[in-house]
Amino acid sequence: MSQIAELNETVEIKIGGETYNFPVIVGSENEKGIDISKLRGQTKYVTLDRGFKNTGSCKSGITFLNGEEGVLRYRGYAIEDLTDKASFLEVAYLCIYGELPNQEQLDNFTKEIQAESDVPEGVAAIIDALPEGSHPMGMLASTINALHGYYPESLDPYRSDEAKDKTIVRLIAKLPAISAMIYRKLNGLSYNKADKSLDYSANFLKMTFGDGDSYEPNARVVQAINKLLILHADHEQNCSASTVRIVGSAHANLYTAISAGISALWGPLHGGANQKVIEMLENIKSDGGDTEKWLNKAKDKADPFRLMGFGHRVYKNFDPRARIIKKSADDVLNDLGIEDPVLDIAKGLESAALSDSYFADRKLYPNVDFYSGIIYRALGIPTEMFTVMFALGRLPGWIAQWKEMRDNGDPIGRPRQIYTGETHRPFVELQNR
Ligand code: SDX
Repeated sequence: MSQIAELNETVEIKIGGETYNFPVIVGSENEKGIDISKLRGQTKYVTLDRGFKNTGSCKSGITFLNGEEGVLRYRGYAIEDLTDKASFLEVAYLCIYGELPNQEQLDNFTKEIQAESDVPEGVAAIIDALPEGSHPMGMLASTINALHGYYPESLDPYRSDEAKDKTIVRLIAKLPAISAMIYRKLNGLSYNKADKSLDYSANFLKMTFGDGDSYEPNARVVQAINKLLILHADHEQNCSASTVRIVGSAHANLYTAISAGISALWGPLHGGANQKVIEMLENIKSDGGDTEKWLNKAKDKADPFRLMGFGHRVYKNFDPRARIIKKSADDVLNDLGIEDPVLDIAKGLESAALSDSYFADRKLYPNVDFYSGIIYRALGIPTEMFTVMFALGRLPGWIAQWKEMRDNGDPIGRPRQIYTGETHRPFVELQNR
């Protein structure tokens, strides 16, 4: 594994006639960072960077992405290779443990997950008790958070490697089952048991859509789900991964840290965008398909409308995942013989936006969420479950980020601020206010 090089390069900051030197660190892909861990102690200054657009929170060896060139690699392997040649569990193992598993490791990992793929009886009662109209992401976050009650040893997973691995395997095994139960609850259907003879994606589909043993997942659909889960597996320090890290940095347990990550992913500016994209495309379709009108709305600062599925904090080029998903959408819809006018609207919107200076100047390209909903819909997954699918894919990445943060002994996350409120003032008695 590449080591981070500590160059002898430093940067100088001059403040009030004093010169301060801070080390520069260089990552294995030659990214450079100024290590300011001693800044406040030496200068009394802190930095300010709303949204952390320029601030690295950690050193990490899990995912590398180059936003300018549209490159995405998990542990050094290109996303294009992984989606073409690996299974989701191989990629999950890779993200969490750092290497692609050999046959024995993959067989053991698969068997352990299959053995844990049922959920405790009480989980059904939790899901059933959630109020009508609950959003699947809120249902998922609540239920995952409750898992610690069934597995108290998960409260201290770093007590042994075995406890840590068991806690991780249980979560990877239970999330698809709970996601399927949420779908069944929303559709008034009884819950299906896991089919331990099926692979991860096929078992998820059968638990979700199965109507008894006669249900056979369509091989093309299984392949598409496998690819989509891989594409969503990790994405370095995105909003939800950073949430998992900061909750985990307080040594709160893994399940509650993942529940917090699910909650962050729910946001429409983050994972919730895949649901918003389809709702946006449906709106445009029912509004007569006038893409120019909606592009103008997206460009109008007075209009709160944004082009959902477009733009990215890091990618200032095509999101490589969007390229793969766009092609997969064509393949899946052709294979399943589905004509979806919303796909044509999406393509029309994309080509119009990419030739529009507003989007080109701001380097706004389709992101992972722009086409994913079209495939999910073709696979029979309802819109309100799209972000749950994102969470299902992202789980190994969140676990990998949490494990790396704990393995590295990173300190509790506690950012500073610049106070802009009232300066000290005398208390005013109630009768005088
Ligand atoms: C994900 O971080 C990750 O890695 C996330 C993710 C992952 O795998 O974990 O990749 C998954 O969350 C993808 C993003 C999904 N969200 C959306 O599709 C929502 C729509 N996109 C935007 O809200 C926005 O692009 C963000 C939130 C994704 C990024 O916002 P930034 O980096 O904070 O950029 P910004 O809001 O400062 O925008 C810069 C300019 C602004 O215009 P100006 O003030 O310069 O004139 O671009 C404009 C913005 O108004 N802009 C958009 C736009 N996105 C940015 N204008 C119209 N439509 C948009 N979608």
